[in-house]
Amino acid sequence: MPVIILGIESSCDDTAAAIVHDGVLLSSVIADQEVHRKYGGVVPELASRAHQQNIIPVVDRALKESGVEPGELSAVAFTRGPGLLGSLLVGTSFAKGFALARKIPLVEVNHLHAHIMVHFLKQEGTEWDPPVFPFLSLLVSGGHTQLLVVKDHARMETIGRTIDDAAGEAFDKCAKVMGLPYPGGPLVDKYAAGGNPNAFRFPKPRAGGLDFSFSGLKTSFLYFLRDKMVEEGNFAVKYRDDLCASVQRTIVEILAGKLEKAFRQTGIREIALAGGVSANTELRRKIREQAGKFGWKVHIPRIALTTDNAAMIAITGYYRYLAGEFAGLEISPLTRMPV
Ligand code: KG4
Ligand code: ZN
Repeated sequence: MPVIILGIESSCDDTAAAIVHDGVLLSSVIADQEVHRKYGGVVPELASRAHQQNIIPVVDRALKESGVEPGELSAVAFTRGPGLLGSLLVGTSFAKGFALARKIPLVEVNHLHAHIMVHFLKQEGTEWDPPVFPFLSLLVSGGHTQLLVVKDHARMETIGRTIDDAAGEAFDKCAKVMGLPYPGGPLVDKYAAGGNPNAFRFPKPRAGGLDFSFSGLKTSFLYFLRDKMVEEGNFAVKYRDDLCASVQRTIVEILAGKLEKAFRQTGIREIALAGGVSANTELRRKIREQAGKFGWKVHIPRIALTTDNAAMIAITGYYRYLAGEFAGLEISPLTRMPV
């Protein structure tokens, strides 16, 4: 019997559904939410309302694009947390109703675990080359920044984490200070391509061991820009590309430095990037450079699978389904949920 999983993701501001058949991705649909752009960040109340509007059309499209009939599904997997409560409630309630109506099992998925598991998705026309256990994962997203030792499909240990902001937040907040719209990370990446990464120097905040810190960088960037704008009113516009390249370089150096330290401590050469910030061009280049230097085997997700999606939920749900790990219909979301 084939195992066909419907994955549902609604933890933040993307409503997503995907179908995975025996580990092979058949469809992946994402509806992002334009509504937050003008507020410079995600507005939780608006996010849950948009999820409510999007969820059924998104699931419907994922099913149609996959060619799978609802009656063929083995289980429905959904993001239980971490995330925004109102957003998680929409996906969780939908998944529970769907599982009950179709009399199929319900599988809960941790969003962070799913970002890491994206490497195990099989895709038509691409070679399946997942990381070998144990591997080191650098998980960098808008809400989280962590270093983990991944022991198998289910077990992982966090060996470093941010003590304040996440790497994606650092990108987004610096972009906001420059007057760029939310989310600023992809724009910083884009403008950095035309800038000089050595134009400006920003301090790298110190955090002990394998932990990260980004709030000091954001503050020093803010003060630097404020002082320069007093001298030259259009500084942020005139030097936009150099500012983007310089701040991007600083963030990437912090991430790459800790990854190297984690490699030295654990001796693990199998490295996997995950999360929205792993779409960053400079981070991808830097990690490949380190791979050559230290003899690492590096796994970098395809761009479409770096940011939030339901394909990662469906593949994680697939492995949980194989392990017989099902959720009860009384389950509720968790805003905080460690991996
Ligand atoms: O994983 P994700 O989609 O959502 C969370 O689970 O948080 O990550 C979103 C984060 C945002 O902060 C966004 O600005 C950042 O990933 N991001 C990038 C790039 N693409 C997305 N940051 C830097 N460069 C990029 N190319
Ligand atoms: Zn995410």
